[in-house]
Amino acid sequence: MSESLTTVAYLGAAILFILSLGGLSNPETSRRGNLYGIIGMALAVLATIFGPHVTAIGIPWIVGAMVVGGAIGLYAARTVQMTQMPELVALMHSLVGLAATLVGYASFIDPAASANFSGAEKAIHEAEIYIGVLIGAVTFSGSIIAFGKLSGRIGGKPLLLPGRHLLNLIGLLIVIWFGVQFLRAESISAGMTPLIIMTVIALLFGIHMVMAIGGADMPVVVSMLNSYSGWAAAATGFMLSNDLLIVTGALVGSSGAILSYIMCRAMNRNFFSVIAGGFGSDSGKPKAVAGAAAQPEGEVTAVTAGETAELLRDAKSVIIVPGYGMAVAQAQHTVFEITKVLREKGVNVRFGIHPVAGRMPGHMNVLLAEAKVPYDIVMEMDEINEDFPGTDVAMVIGANDIVNPAAMEDPTSPIAGMPVLEVWKGKTSIVMKRSMASGYAGVDNPLFYKENNRMLFGDAKKMLDEVLVSLKSA
Ligand code: TAP
Repeated sequence: MSESLTTVAYLGAAILFILSLGGLSNPETSRRGNLYGIIGMALAVLATIFGPHVTAIGIPWIVGAMVVGGAIGLYAARTVQMTQMPELVALMHSLVGLAATLVGYASFIDPAASANFSGAEKAIHEAEIYIGVLIGAVTFSGSIIAFGKLSGRIGGKPLLLPGRHLLNLIGLLIVIWFGVQFLRAESISAGMTPLIIMTVIALLFGIHMVMAIGGADMPVVVSMLNSYSGWAAAATGFMLSNDLLIVTGALVGSSGAILSYIMCRAMNRNFFSVIAGGFGSDSGKPKAVAGAAAQPEGEVTAVTAGETAELLRDAKSVIIVPGYGMAVAQAQHTVFEITKVLREKGVNVRFGIHPVAGRMPGHMNVLLAEAKVPYDIVMEMDEINEDFPGTDVAMVIGANDIVNPAAMEDPTSPIAGMPVLEVWKGKTSIVMKRSMASGYAGVDNPLFYKENNRMLFGDAKKMLDEVLVSLKSA
């Protein structure tokens, strides 16, 4: 394939990726968006393999790597549980970071690559390598820690080293100093030492950055690492002089940055403190370590599935708030069955979605779309929060942090300031969960003790099945 044909194919793939992102921004067009992405990626891979930069000897290696990678991907996609998706995504981000780091080293030690450049071009190429390895290494180690935190292998408590901002600053200065040494190095072996030292510091920085972030603030880290992985891919594109990789990386990097911004706004956190890392723990707000905040007190009122069905049957309006527990229980299909029965009875049923419900951006939207819940009754938090006071029943299914009134009422709470779905303002709220345990952020929830709140204890799927039977039998 000639250079110009490859360029045309790359251009086509870039357009398809942009269309894909556009499609993915709305549940109704997301399938089409996915399809554009698949076609764009197939086009990009084919154009690269058959393009002018790959020799015939290279093709079996690429095909071999694709078979191995594809088989692992296929296996993971088939076996991974929906609840494990966030950690799988974190693991994938780490691979993008690792690839950028390895490509950086390979470009540096490849004599053929360095022979192509001289003077200013060589300096630019080396700066690309240095920055690419830096972003790649931070993304790699940060994503591994995020994987550990999301999968529960590493605790959610923030690790706050004394003088951590100073440590980060010293690390940054050392990285800049070694960057200068790297660019000045006359030979590959002389450049290797600064490159290795910077890589070690970048790896440590990635670990430090994510370890310093507390449980409730993890959503921002997830989207931020998504953004970093895009910039790592763009850096790889610069190192390999591959325009499509630069464009694709920039698309992922900037959309991840926009998502981080949206997440920050949703959680009422400062975007710039996030970029600096370790935010949300000592940012000047009167916050306490989890557990030190006021403990909710009082009686909780438990109800049965039958009583829940009765409350729903008597309601004119119902707002359902799904959370991580709905994903764990895989209760979304039963939720929709109940919705259909209630709507047939003339009840106005809507869903209230918190931006950080579940464990990944859009988690609840994906589950509800899978269960075929119509999009027009699925509302964002901002759209529905004002409607709780006029609502008969607010039904919380496996959610906890996102409906915790402590965020608004207790300035010492670790989640203080985070906007939440104000379900307690409904006439009655029903919380469906297995126990009194706290949510991901480890914060007790005073909602459970409110006078108008009822607790339906048990696995969400099992309890909802019972509610459905009661509703149908009436
Ligand atoms: P959580 O606060 O984690 O609460 C989920 C609740 O579901 C738990 O309290 C649990 O209580 C219950 N549960 C678990 N399995 C269940 C089952 N089988 N049946 C019924 N209930 C079950 O979830 P949330 O309210 O969705 O809030 C999300 C949290 O995750 C926030 O703190 C957010 O910051 C964090 N987070 C979000 C993301 C993204 S991007 N969305 C990423 C990382 C972290 P029991 O054990 O008593 O059943």
